[in-house]
Amino acid sequence: LRVVRASAEAAFLSERWRAAGLSTGLVPTLGALHEGHAALLRAARGECDRLAASIFLNPTQFAPGEDLAKYPRAPDRDLELCRREGVDLVFLPEAEDIYPEGFQTWVTVEDLSMPLCGANRPSHFRGVATVVAQLLSIVKPHRAYFGLKDFQQARIIARLVKDLHLGTEIRTVETVRDADGLALSSRNAYLDASARRTAPRIHSALRAARDAVLRGEDRVPEITAILVRELRPGADLEIEYAEARTADTLEEFAGGIVRRSPGGILLAVAARVGGTRLIDNVVIPPEG
Ligand code: PAF
Repeated sequence: LRVVRASAEAAFLSERWRAAGLSTGLVPTLGALHEGHAALLRAARGECDRLAASIFLNPTQFAPGEDLAKYPRAPDRDLELCRREGVDLVFLPEAEDIYPEGFQTWVTVEDLSMPLCGANRPSHFRGVATVVAQLLSIVKPHRAYFGLKDFQQARIIARLVKDLHLGTEIRTVETVRDADGLALSSRNAYLDASARRTAPRIHSALRAARDAVLRGEDRVPEITAILVRELRPGADLEIEYAEARTADTLEEFAGGIVRRSPGGILLAVAARVGGTRLIDNVVIPPEG
């Protein structure tokens, strides 16, 4: 396992792999790695000759007042997990390398960044898109891997890679869950015992809404009513959004009626549980 801090060195090493005819997979992360990241690394390991991971707590995707300062950090455990999963290169850039003095070039994926998480975190996806564009430009991986818990992020990144001709194939990996359905997230570390008991309601609500759609319910207000009913909002759980949207474009369904085709149906929730913001989703794929 090689740990490098300078972007020039990361670029040099991955270029050497490319020149030797080896394919590279990149798993970009914010650190505080868990089994969800391990699943991304395993997917990449299975498809690529060389495996790179980046660990960078990207400041620009956190707005003032968000949890950047308290975001969990576990550098030793992160490196241990990378070693265990067979990572060849860990890129640990310094903020000054990614955002040098005078930095002023931002990537904005316009429409896909507006709804859902973007509505409440207006600068978040600009920070994500900008850092991911840089990581892909530095490492130039053949494939990069993203988890489907952050479904909107994955759609945005796929779009930016296409729009900017970055040439990396974007691969997505299923959400890894605890036994009670809670999606793994570094932010789960913030949950106290009571919030931890409440949090799986998010996935139960999504499953209930998905089951209703699969039984034939197609009215958006009914579907969102199921989500809200099952989420049981109150002091312990506050809903930020609970929505059904087209999975490909993240638009609302015309006429308030969901349709599986052409793009599939995204059911998505963001909620604050004991003060911690959690997101989750299910996708009902297109028919046929
Ligand atoms: O999902 C994440 O961990 C981050 O948003 C990412 C993609 C590493 C960009 O900082």
